Amino acid sequence: MEQTDLDELYSWFDTYVEPFLETDEEGARNIQLKIEHTRKVCEAMAQLSVGERLSENEARVASAVALLHDVGRFPQYRRWRTFRDSDSDNHARLAVEVIREQNILAELDSAEQLLIEEAVRFHNLLEPPATVKSPTRLFINLIRDADKLDIWRVFVELLAQPPEKRASAATLGLPDLPDTASGACVAALDSGSIVRLETATCFNDFKLLQISWVYDLTCSTARRMLRERGYIETLAASLPQRSEIREAVSKAVLSLST
Ligand SMILES: [Fe+2]
Repeated sequence: MEQTDLDELYSWFDTYVEPFLETDEEGARNIQLKIEHTRKVCEAMAQLSVGERLSENEARVASAVALLHDVGRFPQYRRWRTFRDSDSDNHARLAVEVIREQNILAELDSAEQLLIEEAVRFHNLLEPPATVKSPTRLFINLIRDADKLDIWRVFVELLAQPPEKRASAATLGLPDLPDTASGACVAALDSGSIVRLETATCFNDFKLLQISWVYDLTCSTARRMLRERGYIETLAASLPQRSEIREAVSKAVLSLST
């Protein structure tokens, strides 16, 4: 993959997303959130590429994966007005549909096309399929880490805003009950597992879920970036200050340094 191929993908993206902004204020805010997310995932991916010593070509493929991983979000929101896959459609599958419909990888050799499509397709699975082989595995891991790093950023910025200013789709419609956190979610985090979305019943549960992603990071550069950015500490500060929650969070933070 050449740099010119990547540059063309970047300009395709800008043109593609523009019409999705032509909607009401709330819709435009939600779309804008995903555009910004994509840009920041590309930035995080660039840092991961350096930290993980990718070759120049690998770094370009990784950038393409970062740019395209969430393009399914735009048709998803237009059609269903939600980013919740369970209420609409799998946004990674939709992204591959966009990539194919728009024929944007045609200039690349078929192995790279497949690599990009597969990394996009599997970026949002709870666990990536065990049968996926290297080098696809590398790009799946990288996009999952880069994506999480930026979902944390979005979420921390969201928490800093007054509730009425928050882009509605980002909170997944979960009720914000300041003193409530489900025992099952706290227990999952405490045991070093990923909190499952279907067990989250309130906004604090969703914070616990996001903290539990520390256990899903694959590369040491991502762990270092997360430590430097301090997102986990910020998320934890907005949770109910109970000892079982504090302990579960401490374990998660500690795991980043090992
Ligand atoms: Fe994403």
